[in-house]
This record gives sequence, structure tokens and C-alpha cells, in this order.
Amino acid sequence: MSSYDLTRQLPADHFSHALRHDVQHGLTASPKTLPPKWFYDAAGSELFEEITRLPEYYPTRAEREILTSRSRAIAAITRARTLVELGSGSSEKTRLLLDALQELGTLETYIPVDVSESALDAAGKSLTKEYPGLSVHAVLSDFTHGRGLPTGAGPKVLAFLGGTLGNLLPAERAEFLTGLRKLMAPGDALLLGTDLVKDPKVLVAAYDDAAGVTAAFNKNVLNVLNRELNADFDPGTFEHVALWDARQEWIEMRLRSTRTQTVKIQALDLAVHFEEGEELRTEVSAKFRHARVADELEAAGLELAEWWTDEQGRFGLSLAVPR
Ligand code: SAH
Ligand code: AVI
Repeated sequence: MSSYDLTRQLPADHFSHALRHDVQHGLTASPKTLPPKWFYDAAGSELFEEITRLPEYYPTRAEREILTSRSRAIAAITRARTLVELGSGSSEKTRLLLDALQELGTLETYIPVDVSESALDAAGKSLTKEYPGLSVHAVLSDFTHGRGLPTGAGPKVLAFLGGTLGNLLPAERAEFLTGLRKLMAPGDALLLGTDLVKDPKVLVAAYDDAAGVTAAFNKNVLNVLNRELNADFDPGTFEHVALWDARQEWIEMRLRSTRTQTVKIQALDLAVHFEEGEELRTEVSAKFRHARVADELEAAGLELAEWWTDEQGRFGLSLAVPR
């Protein structure tokens, strides 16, 4: 018999308290910034799923290609009883791992962790139906808060797919990976997806698609602020910007104000002034090289045991173990 439950590890006031803090801090800073986790309300999660199907957005297809050819090897190496997935979203590619682990017969429990309740609950419920015998414990939590991370019976695999590690800044990545290492015992493994450095034209197109879906995803954060904090952003007065920072080796998404304006955020009693052309950074998406992945893992006490890429070398999937 399969089973399903969802645990809320976010405080009830998460969307007011943490969002207030991030907005107060980020919109009074210079330059203005917001953390990318606020994209993902129900509409944002839907828009992300749409992005994964765009012709320009190759990372999902590239990672799926790797998982299609390597999931059996991952299952055989890890023999996981528990699969914990951080930022699981729709868990769409995860099915390849679940299939391989069920075929091997070791898997008992899947623990998807996400900040988006709508995505988490929909995925958890369908997986429970699709995988007889699997216990699905969904956890609504912010994976950047160490105390919100669940654990489970070993051997376990912690999966962090999609390249979401690249949405953390370097210092946040170091703290996050060190936190993951603390959850791991000998015999556990980390399965990490990272998008790789490539032709900037290909990268920029992936974040500035012709159909404008990524632009809508980017502007959605303004809808979240309007709804949750009683702000009066007019998304029509902001332009989507995606650029490649060659020094940092990351894509930056920004929202550029097309006019001089003052936005009121009632819940914070805050007025935020934008000059015409002023930009608000909403996301970085770092792109990696093999050596950087190995070094960052090593700094967190992890050893890169396996490294796979898709045929075109666009995306990397690492299997790392405690050192
Ligand atoms: N792993 C999926 C989804 C990637 S999109 C894939 O590869 O396609 C990034 C996911 O991480 C979203 O579902 C988003 O809601 C979640 N997320 C982003 N920041 C988060 C945070 N701080 N804590 C928990 N989940 C987060
Ligand atoms: C979730 N994350 C890995 C995506 C990325 O590619 O950085 C989010 C995204 N932003 C714009 N398009 C997709």
C-alpha cells in the first residue's frame, strides 16, 4: 500500500514574515535585489513548468537525457531506501529515478521538499497513485533554512536537480552544501544537477525566450508582492532583462523600470523609488564547470564520485559521497 502525507515545516507566517524581511532588505539596498524563491506561488510554479517545455530552455531536456541513461546506475550504486528531493517542483524527471529504484526493489520512501505548496501537493498525490508501495512524505519547507530539512532511513539519496543550486549565491551555496553534508551518513549520496558554462547566446536565449514565458515568470514576483504585501507594482512598467555575467559565470535576471516611479508596499509602510532604467535583480543562475562543482563539493566535505553529462555537454549530473 502506498501512503501520502504533507508536513508544513514553514511557520504559518512564512509568507508574511520572511517575505517582509527579504523585501524590506532587498528593495532598500543598492542595487535592489530579491531572492528567487519568491517566484514560486501557484502561478509561478505553472510558469516554470511552461519554461521547461520551451524550445530555448535546454536544461530540463539535457538533465532528463542524463537521468534516462543513468538512473539504473544511480540505483545500483546507491541502493537507496529513501529519496529526499530538494526543490522537487513537479517531480517530473524524478520518475526516472523512482522507476529505477523500484525496479531494484530498495526504495521505500520519497520525500519531496518544496516551498511551493501547490506544486508539492499535486506531485505528491499523483506519485502516490503511480507508485504502489511507495510512501510519499511531502515537506513544505525552505531548503535554505537548515532546520527545515527532513531526513529518513538510510541508505538515502539527497537529490537537488534542475540546476537550482545555481540560483544560490556562492556563499549561500557553501552554507547549503555544508548543511546537506551534515544530514548525510556513510553510504548516503548527493545527486546534484548543474547547468554548465556554454555559448552565451544559447544561455541568454534560454532566459529570454521568444514567447515571453520567462518574462512573465520574472514579473510574477511583482504579483506576489502585490498580493502578499499589499504593494502596487504595475508589472507593465517593468521590462524583463536576462544577461550573461562572464566574470561570475552566471545569468542574471532583472526587472528594469521603464519610468521614474514610486511603488508603495503597504504592509511594510515602505515607498520604493525607481529611476527610469533602474534594475532590480531577481535571480542569478550560475553555470558551472566540472572543476568548480568538484571544488565546492570538496569544500563541503563531499567527494565527487561520478560525473555524467548529456551528449552535447550542456548539463552535468554529479553523484557525491561523504568524504
Ligand atoms: N527540480 C525541478 C524544479 C526546479 S524549479 C526541476 O528540476 O524541474 C525550482 C524549484 O525549487 C521550485 O519548485 C521552487 O518552488 C523550489 N524552490 C525554490 N527555492 C526554494 C527554497 N528556498 N526552498 C524550497 N524550495 C524552493
Ligand atoms: C529553477 N532554476 C534552476 C531555473 C534556472 O534555470 O535557473 C529557474 C529559471 N529562471 C528562469 N528560467 C528558469
